[in-house]
Amino acid sequence: MIEFKDVTKTFNTKQGAVHAVQDVNLKIEDGHIYGIVGYSGAGKSTLIRMLNGLETPTTGTVTIDDVEISALGGAKLREQRHKIGMIFQHFNLLWSRTVLQNIMFPLEIAGQSKAEAKKQAEHLADLVGLAGREQAYPSELSGGQKQRVGIARALANDPQILLSDEATSALDPQTTDEVLDLLLDINKKLHLTIVLITHEMHVIRKIADHVAVMESGKIVEQGPVLEVFKRPKQAVTKRFVNEEVTPSLTDTTAVVDQLLAKYPKGTIVQLTFHGDQAKLPIVSEMLKQYGGLDLNIIEGTIHQTQEGSIGTLYIQLTGEQAEIDGALAYLQKMRVETEVLNRE
Ligand SMILES: Nc1ncnc2c1ncn2[C@@H]1O[C@H](COP(=O)(O)OP(=O)(O)O)[C@@H](O)[C@H]1O
Ligand SMILES: [Mg+2]
Repeated sequence: MIEFKDVTKTFNTKQGAVHAVQDVNLKIEDGHIYGIVGYSGAGKSTLIRMLNGLETPTTGTVTIDDVEISALGGAKLREQRHKIGMIFQHFNLLWSRTVLQNIMFPLEIAGQSKAEAKKQAEHLADLVGLAGREQAYPSELSGGQKQRVGIARALANDPQILLSDEATSALDPQTTDEVLDLLLDINKKLHLTIVLITHEMHVIRKIADHVAVMESGKIVEQGPVLEVFKRPKQAVTKRFVNEEVTPSLTDTTAVVDQLLAKYPKGTIVQLTFHGDQAKLPIVSEMLKQYGGLDLNIIEGTIHQTQEGSIGTLYIQLTGEQAEIDGALAYLQKMRVETEVLNRE
């Protein structure tokens, strides 16, 4: 387990003190994918750099499995660093070396023989989906392939923790998804803890199970992704969620007023899915049971997260009142949150 206890990091610059990280308390369980989201300058990079000893806290402690990283130095720190791999936005590859040689590099530094390193590197190239590209140079690879090399290299010393600092920020959306799928796959296969920092909520939603939101050096909100998404408390979290999910999840009144003006007929219902329900064909089942009803889907969004689906659906139901009531009761039975926005 990773633990930050009362961690503060202050940089003293000519312009004065910069409080990059302030009073951070955070626990990350083994095997989790923990996302840290925040805008540029929030302190994300400084925070995770304290995990591999690239920065030391000004006050507080950073421990991994009860070993205090912040107190280590020299050989002990180097040994600890082997347990932590890191990937970066701009890949940090050696441009004059082939894919295989890039992956071999950390193994050679760790003292493996060339033959051993080669064998391990070939295995890793395979694991990250680069089989057949081992002899290519980074300049011959797509962005996604470059990051795969970065991931393979980060995994070379068989780490327990993988740190990802904006690793998909330079990639297009589809490549981002492919790289995130690879990280998920590795997390499961290797039981690796992943700490991932990003300014993109999409990245969090797709692979993280927990999230911490950072602003001005502080963690202002943290918890399971689904909870933080569903009930964002802080303004900064709402901004992130709103960039991604429909405004209706956080600010319904304006949306509802518009809908009611536009759809004056029938019963307008807001359905909120959270958890597994959205996987079930609940709405179509409801229609089968209440065949006299007409259903019009007005708008909605369902997002997949690691813990299930969340989202909001606005529907217009027209038909006999008894059937409408029955349909609503059915939805409630299926534990879909329903809210009737009007009554005729
Ligand atoms: N080595 C440093 N010296 C001085 N200030 C720094 C240093 N590293 C980071 N900072 C400052 O700390 C704050 C947090 O930076 P950073 O951790 O890089 O944020 P993020 O990764 O969220 O964009 C910023 O104001 C940044 O300018
Ligand atoms: Mg950063």
